[in-house]
Amino acid sequence: MSEKILILDFGSQYTQLIARRVRERHVYSEILPGDTPITSINTHQPKGIILSGSPSSVIEDEARQMAPELLSSGIPILGICYGMQLIAHHMGGLVERAGAREYGRAELRIVTESPLFKGLTSPLTVWMSHGDRVVTSPPGFQITAVTDSSPVAAFENREKGLYGLQFHPEVAHTALGREIIKNFLHAICHCGESWTAKSFIAQTLEDICRQVKTGKVICALSGGVDSSVTALLVHKAIGERLVSVFVNNGLLRYREPERVIENFRNKLHMNLRYIDASRRFYTRLAGVVDPEEKRSIIGEEFIRIFEEEAARIGGVKFLAQGTLYPDVVESGSSQGSSAIIKTHHNVGGLPSTMKLKLIEPLKELFKDEVRELARVMGLDPYFIRRQPFPGPGLAVRIVGEITPFRVKTLQQADRIIEEIVEEFGWQDRLWQAFPVLLSLHTVGVMGDERTYHNVVALRAVTSQDGMTADWARLPHQMLEVISSRLVNEIEGVNRVVYDISSKPPSTIEWE
Ligand code: XMP
Repeated sequence: MSEKILILDFGSQYTQLIARRVRERHVYSEILPGDTPITSINTHQPKGIILSGSPSSVIEDEARQMAPELLSSGIPILGICYGMQLIAHHMGGLVERAGAREYGRAELRIVTESPLFKGLTSPLTVWMSHGDRVVTSPPGFQITAVTDSSPVAAFENREKGLYGLQFHPEVAHTALGREIIKNFLHAICHCGESWTAKSFIAQTLEDICRQVKTGKVICALSGGVDSSVTALLVHKAIGERLVSVFVNNGLLRYREPERVIENFRNKLHMNLRYIDASRRFYTRLAGVVDPEEKRSIIGEEFIRIFEEEAARIGGVKFLAQGTLYPDVVESGSSQGSSAIIKTHHNVGGLPSTMKLKLIEPLKELFKDEVRELARVMGLDPYFIRRQPFPGPGLAVRIVGEITPFRVKTLQQADRIIEEIVEEFGWQDRLWQAFPVLLSLHTVGVMGDERTYHNVVALRAVTSQDGMTADWARLPHQMLEVISSRLVNEIEGVNRVVYDISSKPPSTIEWE
């Protein structure tokens, strides 16, 4: 394993961002809970530790704590905001409630030369977000920077390897924040640049071979980038002993099964089992209109088919799935804290009753790192650039009953929209663009004849992560082409509407 930086999380909204920044410098980082005991920390042999911010206050009794022995362990430590206040608190400094929360931009003046600020010229624009602040630095510490409202905006004790910043170097608003993190990693922790896609691939292939030995692995391939890269890695490690199962639930995009088969079976020569289960899904979905009922039927049916297939293959001991790091962190720290809006069914994360050992080669990665891996491994760009596609597929884009005919109608609309988005060069600007088939008919007129046909809604959104989204300001000309092609080319559609709702309060998918 490459050199590692540990990030102790005290509940800051920016913790994941710190991890991203570290990895951008090609240093591997892992997030652990703030109160992780020193013995567990030592098993990681970290080259350095970053203490995150927090909504808590170190002055309060119930403040989130850290193992205090860490501060004399000799491991270099960078405390950010709350992390800095923790250092001050434990080392004999004074932390005080600020009169008002300091939030936003501030001008930082460097007052003492510090390895953390190497190569930077004072003053710097930094981003503050804190209630408490350090007013007296602990004995043996040097104040290295100040702002108008923070007399101790940065401090350090170089002999002990302890550094504190009142501001957030990880956010983009701190102009040279990346440089500060870079200095901590390379000048203070002496990390090299060992975290690269190539080193990751080499290490992962070794790990998979060691874990699987001569066993068989099964993988649910959906064609999404996560399951594709997972399958690619396992296939590279053990070849034919990986059996990828691709289930066509009859709710996929236009020509999706053909594309997956062509790429993974014919081009990449993977051992791919294709199961066309469309009929089974249509039968179970007949007459169902409730969105959650649709989702649960599709999830259940998928597990059943997957289990049947595993039994048919026989002798399978491992299940490979494309779990990503944010999934791991989320299920560890914020379980059950938010209401369920929709039951998200992810093809990868299912058969817990199958007693298979898990192989999750991507569980330390973020989405863009997986995309980078896909590029290095030569995955077809179609699969890398694909927009997110929900597990229950087109079912959640058909309002009302699902019938093979309605699925076909939607597939055609989807193909047309995809073509136009590409033609107008909008594919990289949009998070998603897709049609929704509504369950209502409206009156139209075509060639002097009255029509009473379907309405298609166009949904096109911009988003960073799918958690929030805004409707895309598509050019009128593009909307015009979409509308006229949908109505002219798809039988049974006589009206197109554009969805101009943001998330929240709406969601991206309609169901
Ligand atoms: P919503 O509709 O909740 O969607 O705003 C947010 C993002 O998640 C995708 N989505 C899903 N992805 N399984 C998935 O893997 C699902 O069941 C599912 N439902 C929604 C959606 O396409 C959007 O990008």
